[in-house]
Amino acid sequence: MADIEQLARDARAELEAATTVAELDAAKVRHLGKSGPLVLLLGDIRNLPPEDRGHVGKEGNVARRQLEEYVAARGAELADAELDAQVARDVVDMTLPARAVPQGTLHLLTQTRRLLEDIFLGMGYAVIDAPEVESEWYGFSALNTPVGHPARNPTDTFYIEGHDANAGANDDALILRTQTSTAQLRTMQLTKPPLYVVHPGRVYRRDDIDATHSDMFHQMEALAVDEGLTLAHLKGTMEQFLGTLFGGKLEIRLRTHFFPFTEPSVEADVQCFNCMGSGRAPEGDAQGEGASDKCRVCRGEGWIEIMGAGMVDPNVFEAVGYDADRVSGFAFGIGIDRVAMLRHDFPDLRHLFQNDLRFVRQFPGRP
Ligand code: PHE
Repeated sequence: MADIEQLARDARAELEAATTVAELDAAKVRHLGKSGPLVLLLGDIRNLPPEDRGHVGKEGNVARRQLEEYVAARGAELADAELDAQVARDVVDMTLPARAVPQGTLHLLTQTRRLLEDIFLGMGYAVIDAPEVESEWYGFSALNTPVGHPARNPTDTFYIEGHDANAGANDDALILRTQTSTAQLRTMQLTKPPLYVVHPGRVYRRDDIDATHSDMFHQMEALAVDEGLTLAHLKGTMEQFLGTLFGGKLEIRLRTHFFPFTEPSVEADVQCFNCMGSGRAPEGDAQGEGASDKCRVCRGEGWIEIMGAGMVDPNVFEAVGYDADRVSGFAFGIGIDRVAMLRHDFPDLRHLFQNDLRFVRQFPGRP
């Protein structure tokens, strides 16, 4: 008959020889696992002579329990030691600087919009908001733009619903606004004069997309309504605004034009800030291959066409219930995308909308 004491001693010696959790586990499997000698013996008790069964069972089970207790205690000890060793190895230097988290920047268009807003806030204007989806009434009729005007044509304007080619105009039909001038009506309906506001926002036109055209772009509208405002106030405001925007004291030139909602209407040119009006490339100006000595910003004109403007038409005042005999006003609209292109000297509008990071990252504006 196997000597239980001997089996237990052998097992104990091997368990004690283990110096790692893995070695201890292996020794445990060998001696206390299904085919460990002591375990096999205990499993086989019914085949022993009856007089041996009692003491073999008793001593065997005591020995097995002691071995198991030893494994549990020693296992915890070894695991603790291994953890301590690992913690000692994996030293964390709390004084190292943290890895920088990449931070986004404001898009150039946002920066440009904020700059325009700031200039007008400095002149006492308020910045207002207005819808991009408008009815034909706001988009055209109330802006003195009658049925039959080409801008109302669905080939020029995106209609959303309610347009019926056979029924003619429907003032309730929904469009994507083609100009921020709709904000003039919205503001005047909400506020009594005097008012001085600007509204930057998106506008939509059915244009083919190329370097200078997009079916969505941005404008900023300015509207001033007060007693006694004249074209001279418009020009003075433009001088202040454009001088701040492009740097320096720049001449403004007004050319007669037509807009349905202003009378008189003008197109405003600003003296070229690159050649200061000479039309010739400034000394040292980067010109690129095959370029002439003409200023590349104004293409030799000396002037940059910059915005449409005019005195608010009395019919517009009437549409919103303002008294055209008491107040007068001026308005103008400027392309925000175009301002960004001029100020930062890039020739293709599409850069602003394609979100190529190689472009976007060149203008790191912080929030
Ligand atoms: N809305 C006009 C345009 O988009 C510009 C404009 C604004 C003209 C205000 C006159 C007054 O071309």
